[in-house]
Amino acid sequence: MKKNLIRICTISAMFLAACNTSSDQKESCTKEGDLNPNGSSELSLIMRKMATHLAENRDALKAGKGIVAAPKEIDDLLTAKKTDEEIDKAIYDGYAKLYQQRIIELNETADKSDSIKIKAHNNLVSTCRDCHSNFCPGPMVVINQLDIK
Ligand code: HEC
Repeated sequence: MKKNLIRICTISAMFLAACNTSSDQKESCTKEGDLNPNGSSELSLIMRKMATHLAENRDALKAGKGIVAAPKEIDDLLTAKKTDEEIDKAIYDGYAKLYQQRIIELNETADKSDSIKIKAHNNLVSTCRDCHSNFCPGPMVVINQLDIK
């Protein structure tokens, strides 16, 4: 519990620090809609799988079905090659670890109520949003469709 709190505080601090520099970092990802497989980094392929996973999970939970298993590539979030290796590693790694932690938390809701599953799902979507607000705002349109309202 305490460990989680420290992690959240650290990330909030990093987020505040990033606000001043975010305008420099807006170019740090491929443009939205760039789906050329030859030009795609390892990370952008993982991102597409993550987006598909949350879209499938959203639809399953809305239909009252169980959670959808996450793609195993999420294990590689911290090591995958990025289009731009210059992006702030401390901020990126902080959110990547948080995303992995929240996948574990989603999996732990398998035998819990629908509302607890939905909360864990929406926590994941928030993590997509938080990381992207630092790096590349393009996919925000996709991310904002993943919440379960
Ligand atoms: C830890 C930070 C982080 C998190 C969390 C994160 N992203 Fe990303 N995302 C990035 C970065 C950095 C890129 C640029 C990847 C590249 O071009 O190498 C990216 C790229 C993308 C792209 C563009 C992929 C392409 O086709 O080139 C989409 C779409 C995307 N993310 C959606 C999402 C969704 C949906 C989530 C949540 C399920 C998410 N992202 C979570 C950092 C993150």
